[in-house]
Amino acid sequence: MNLPQQSQLEFSHDVLIIGSGAAGLTLALHLAKTHTVAVLSKVEITESSTFYAQGGISAVVADDDTIESHIADTLDAGAGLCDPEAVEFTVKHGKQAIDWLLELGVPFTRHPDSEKGGEALHLTREGGHSHRRVVHADDATGQAIETTLVAQARRHENIELFEHHLAIDLIKSPDPGPRRCIGAYVLDRNAGHIDVFRASHVVLASGGSSKVYLYTSNPDGSTGDGIAMAWRAGCRVANMEFIQFHPTCLYHPKAKSFLISEAVRGEGGVLKLPNGERFMPRFDARAELAPRDIVARAIDHEMKRLGVDHVYLDISHQSSEFIIQHFPTIYARCLQYGFDMTREPLPVVPAAHYTCGGVMTDLYARTDLKGLYAIGEVSYTGLHGANRMASNSLLECLVFARAAAEQIKTSNAESPWQGTIPAWDESMVTDSDEHVVVTHNWDEIRRFMWDYVGIVRTTKRLERAKHRIDLLHREIFEYYSNFKVTADLIELRNLAQVAELIISAAMSRKESRGLHFIRDFPNPDPTLDHKPTIMTPERSH
Ligand code: FAD
Ligand code: SIN
Repeated sequence: MNLPQQSQLEFSHDVLIIGSGAAGLTLALHLAKTHTVAVLSKVEITESSTFYAQGGISAVVADDDTIESHIADTLDAGAGLCDPEAVEFTVKHGKQAIDWLLELGVPFTRHPDSEKGGEALHLTREGGHSHRRVVHADDATGQAIETTLVAQARRHENIELFEHHLAIDLIKSPDPGPRRCIGAYVLDRNAGHIDVFRASHVVLASGGSSKVYLYTSNPDGSTGDGIAMAWRAGCRVANMEFIQFHPTCLYHPKAKSFLISEAVRGEGGVLKLPNGERFMPRFDARAELAPRDIVARAIDHEMKRLGVDHVYLDISHQSSEFIIQHFPTIYARCLQYGFDMTREPLPVVPAAHYTCGGVMTDLYARTDLKGLYAIGEVSYTGLHGANRMASNSLLECLVFARAAAEQIKTSNAESPWQGTIPAWDESMVTDSDEHVVVTHNWDEIRRFMWDYVGIVRTTKRLERAKHRIDLLHREIFEYYSNFKVTADLIELRNLAQVAELIISAAMSRKESRGLHFIRDFPNPDPTLDHKPTIMTPERSH
């Protein structure tokens, strides 16, 4: 790290939350009556994976559904690697999470309740779920949730929102004595200086790392910053090899992997080859509604077998009214790109979508470092195992944000760190004159991660990737030590760290399970049941 000397500003709050998606804002709202809270977002406040979520949130709300069934489906999708305690904890709190969002005014889709009269929440279906249990707001659920949470957060005088503030690294109390997280160094992107944010509790809610792949459904900010920061601060990280590829993103040069929700398949959409053949029944009895790893791999297999760039998703057999009513956002976006999904199949490809692994936490969202918590996609709670079931992630954000709030409220009020926090030092570094190094390395990492560490892996490809990332790591570290930090450089350093963790985890798992498929070990190894890949940083970090 650059040696600390002088930064521009110092802020102090009870709780610092790094991230303004569903996880971060839920936590802020649960704490705002009793604590002062700072919420950081690296760009505009709403820009997050949460905002783009389409399908919905899974929860047991239907009379004919059961907690046991949701648990069983989650465990099944997780392929022997879920932590049953985390699964039960999350699923049992599902209805509470939905009720809370309803109280806040999230406009979930409703339909006439033919049995009880009045209206009930409309539930859609997605892969892996044996019931209709996905609560949604048309096909723009994330937008409805995020805008509601932001509006609520803006009303609280105890919540201060810092947009365009990019956390660089966590600050730990100095040796000797037990180390504790006491804040973060943060780049104010508009002002261009680095500030100290001091807090008694620091929470990573910074989302996933899918941007490490060339093609991703995620917004640009998903660069794994929280995972990299926690790793550098000495926290364990688990299950990084389990990257979920969403099977169906729109194939169009300008669409930037726009997602076509799994709910389209849930409502009858079928996958077809260019010759019109429906192929999923050849791969799994559940066909298009098999868990995502199976569907993405089947598409990858067919694309490679036939040498084609995409397959098709066809729901045009449903009526136009049905399609436009259920999928107004997707319909409108596809039309912009020249595809009318009411009349023709959509060209689709898989893209990196979700980071199942992350910073290890307990059921109270506590990490290995005192005072540091992790919630939402940045965390590894044990819920998802080797493959996240659709719509379980927003649920995890809400449930673990509440758990973290309870923990923070009841933990013996840690007195804030009183010592001086050294300011960030830029006296030893200069402005970079070669930004091309940063852009080149960004592109290179994302390209080889896609080619070598993607949906289907081999030992040889992983070794190649390891060789590349080791070289890049050294180069980026040197660059980082010599030049003033910029947002791109900070994110590149984190991407390289996360790529290294994914590759190492993938190399260490000598079996195929869930989202990790490696040709040299094509089957699951039963001796590895219930064994997550846990990585511990060297204590020198
Ligand atoms: P995010 O919502 O990603 O928010 C991350 C926040 O952290 C942002 O505010 C960002 O600015 C901030 N941040 C990151 N790094 C830094 C830093 N260094 N400094 C400061 N701030 C930082 N899941 C479902 O359950 N159902 C769905 O239907 C669904 N659909 C999806 C559709 C799409 C297109 C995508 C991309 C994901 C979807 N998911 C869905 C997954 C789900 O949306 C995410 O897992 C979830 O929203 C993550 O929420 P989060 O709060 O953890 O992080
Ligand atoms: C989707 O709508 O297909 C995304 C659901 C999810 O990622 O959980």
